[in-house]
Amino acid sequence: MTTTQTESPRVSLDLSPPPPNAPESLKGLLISESSLSDRIQQLGQDIQQDYQNEDLVVVGVLSGTIIFLADLVRQLSGPIEVDFIGASSYRDGTTSGDFEITRSTKTDLKGRRVLIVDDILDAGHTLTRVHEQLAQQEPKEIRSCVLLEKTARRQVQIEADYVGFKIPDYFVVGYGLDFAERYRNLPYVGVLDDSLLAP
Ligand code: IMP
Ligand code: MG
Repeated sequence: MTTTQTESPRVSLDLSPPPPNAPESLKGLLISESSLSDRIQQLGQDIQQDYQNEDLVVVGVLSGTIIFLADLVRQLSGPIEVDFIGASSYRDGTTSGDFEITRSTKTDLKGRRVLIVDDILDAGHTLTRVHEQLAQQEPKEIRSCVLLEKTARRQVQIEADYVGFKIPDYFVVGYGLDFAERYRNLPYVGVLDDSLLAP
């Protein structure tokens, strides 16, 4: 099966001013609500075109994926199932800790098509480890979809099949992404003030 991936917009370093009512700790806006919505609609069309009405299990990586996954799956009209895997690598703030699978999928994936959905592909450890974990169940195929990709910090050779936006090396929050479990509820993707981040 071929992959339809419309070109992922490359977000520039320039930040817009924080939206009204943004937390004070936000330095600026990177991706607006309307840009997110337009791009996710396009991603949904790409994925829909590839899978049509075939069997598909969408596996979201908790917790950062929750908002993105909710919007993405509503763009799909095939007979999909949704499951979650818990993965934790950033234990606190932005520092990378030990990797751990904190919840296993509940669906029988043997012989099935699987699409992993994660919030961001950064160093690449999370997607690699989740892929390895799911592969143990012998699915027919595993693909991956991430909302954001930071290419600058990749440590593992891995690419996602569908990428929402390529972003510069900012620590971003909102639209599911957290800093120490906060800010997931912001409806846009923003950048935190440097003073909050460890040097
Ligand atoms: P990787 O294992 O380095 O690719 O990191 C992926 C995971 O790290 C994501 O699922 C996020 O939870 C977290 N992460 C990486 N960069 C950011 C960021 O800029 N903001 C919030 N979380 C991030
Ligand atoms: Mg996180």
